Amino acid sequence: MHMNRQWIVSLLACLFLAACFPKAGTVPGPLSSAGLESAQARWPGTSAEELEQGRQLFLNHCNSCHSYPDRTAYSEAEWPGLARRMGKKADLKEAESELVLRFILANRSEPAAAPEAPAAR
Ligand code: HEC
Repeated sequence: MHMNRQWIVSLLACLFLAACFPKAGTVPGPLSSAGLESAQARWPGTSAEELEQGRQLFLNHCNSCHSYPDRTAYSEAEWPGLARRMGKKADLKEAESELVLRFILANRSEPAAAPEAPAAR
């Protein structure tokens, strides 16, 4: 039947999209002082303002096509390529994608980002 086939095609399209869209993550808050310190040890000269700018870019550009991606679902080695590729999709300048990447990696290494960490009280 015609309707049936259309339904199957859209179902397959959804499965396909679900398979390649990023795992959804939380809305990231500002970096903790530990997150800031780890980022600044890694990229000397990166200011807290730049990392916050990276967060703002992430907040404004990384959930328009899909949910905010789970930072911990991808490895340190995967993020640089992903940030560059997605930054282009989001029409970010290269320097902006770099700030998003730094924010993501700093956020990713924060204790609160680990799924097994107990909830803060
Ligand atoms: C213009 C739409 C668009 C924007 C904006 C966008 N994405 Fe994506 N993103 C996609 C699409 C489409 C896919 C799935 C296909 C693919 O991987 O290219 C995807 C997939 C992903 C994945 C999973 C990739 C994989 O291989 O599993 C991650 C992680 C991701 N995006 C992160 C981001 C980040 C970070 C930003 C912000 C800089 C962003 N996206 C902005 C469209 C977008």
